[in-house]
Amino acid sequence: MKVVHTIEELRDQLRGQMRVAFVPTMGNLHSAHLALMKMARQHGDPVVASIFVNRLQFGQGEDFDKYPRTLQQDIDKLEQARDVYVLFAPDDKEMYPEPQNYQIQPPSDLGGILEGEFRPGFFTGVCTVVMKLFACVQPKVAVFGKKDYQQLMVIRNMCRQLQLPVEILAHETVRDEDGLALSSRNRYLSAEERKEASLIYRLLVQAREQILEGKKTIAQVEQWGFKTLSDRGWKVDYFSVRRQKDLLIPDAPKLETEPLIILVAASLGETRLIDNLEV
Ligand code: PAF
Repeated sequence: MKVVHTIEELRDQLRGQMRVAFVPTMGNLHSAHLALMKMARQHGDPVVASIFVNRLQFGQGEDFDKYPRTLQQDIDKLEQARDVYVLFAPDDKEMYPEPQNYQIQPPSDLGGILEGEFRPGFFTGVCTVVMKLFACVQPKVAVFGKKDYQQLMVIRNMCRQLQLPVEILAHETVRDEDGLALSSRNRYLSAEERKEASLIYRLLVQAREQILEGKKTIAQVEQWGFKTLSDRGWKVDYFSVRRQKDLLIPDAPKLETEPLIILVAASLGETRLIDNLEV
């Protein structure tokens, strides 16, 4: 695997490559990232991964400074898995040599709800860096995980609206044995919090059952999820049932035919976790 830190070196490595499959990450790689890279390998060649902790997508008071930066360990994992041909690991100066005055702001009906409501500016930061990374890598396909479901939709919409020639592929959420979705932020959890954290997935599964049974309204399911977490000391941002196609609130008469998704964001102590489950 070649490790490059500048856009120039990256372009040198990829000259003439028309079928690049790309996996952008913020590093601190775990098996969910490695699964994305395996999937990328099935859809293009060569596979390029990036590791860049993108300052633009972190709000004031968020964990930009303490976000785990583990480049050498990440390189070792990638070398072992042997799916990636080039790793692009730029620093801040390489990606943002001057103030980033041109930014990509997603529409508020998709980028301003759920995560966008609780993390203002987050999707603008994500879209801007993904757009820049796409300009550097020029991939044919790019792979994102469904754990960040709204991010996946925002990026798909951005590519469609801006006519970017990149196919966006989605990988299923990778979970630990107890159901907790793998995330770099799980490492912030204390041992006790880690045990409690799997509650999110159990509640998502139960909420899905409640929706399928049809005995509770959507609002009742949402309140139940919200209250169950709050009662156990979680700080809940949302426990929300939405339409899969656009993340808007579902129409009551169409509930039986509409593919739905349950999305949750909640903090346990200092650690904010998100997850979702398709219905
Ligand atoms: O999902 C992530 O890790 C980040 O949001 C991404 C897509 C790499 C952009 O910084």
